[in-house]
Amino acid sequence: MSEISIRQATSDDAKLLTDLSYTTFWDAFAHHPKNAPDDLNHYMRQAFSIEQISAELAKENDIFLIGEVEGQPAGYAKLVIESMEAGITATRPVELSRLYSHQEYIGKGVGQNLMDACFERARLENRDVMWLGVWEYNPRAQRFYEKNGFRVVGKHIFQLGSDPQIDLLMQRAV
Ligand SMILES: CC(C)(COP(=O)(O)OP(=O)(O)OC[C@H]1O[C@@H](n2cnc3c(N)ncnc32)[C@H](O)[C@@H]1OP(=O)(O)O)[C@@H](O)C(=O)NCCC(=O)NCCS
Repeated sequence: MSEISIRQATSDDAKLLTDLSYTTFWDAFAHHPKNAPDDLNHYMRQAFSIEQISAELAKENDIFLIGEVEGQPAGYAKLVIESMEAGITATRPVELSRLYSHQEYIGKGVGQNLMDACFERARLENRDVMWLGVWEYNPRAQRFYEKNGFRVVGKHIFQLGSDPQIDLLMQRAV
């Protein structure tokens, strides 16, 4: 496959990121029998609106990294500096809040390149621990995180519309 390049998103990427986050979330979760369409739509309308993504892009502690192949968006990651959660052991935490590859590029190294870039950035930001929440029914992502050295340290609720879903909490030293 062609080279994968990673760059930090700017406010000019609000539309690109809104489309990419909407599409990748839909592709990943819309067809899972445990997700009710109403809950999914409720969450997605709020989380992936241009207003919401623009507001996040404007926050100093929210860092979006975009993976591109031949200039086309192929995936993205979102880091939140200082984000913390009960069960996580850290003094200078960073949350890997989102990591999504476009369906077309899954299994082609985009996720790994984004993960490597996230750790590089976390080191630059002097973070000691990276943590994340991953849905209990998302074994592929769990395997990917385990392969990257993350370990399960607890659970938390992720509210998808009216559905309180269980996320495994995983963390790794930076
Ligand atoms: C989890 C996710 C982000 C991983 O990203 P990805 O782009 O598929 O990851 P990679 O391609 O880098 O790595 C996946 C596999 O491909 C392999 N791989 C890496 N580079 C490769 C390449 N150039 N060619 C082929 N395979 C490659 C990796 O070794 C890895 O192997 P594994 O199956 O044994 O783990 C991706 O599957 C995804 O977006 N899933 C849907 C959304 C989701 O669940 N996100 C997480 C929410 S918490």
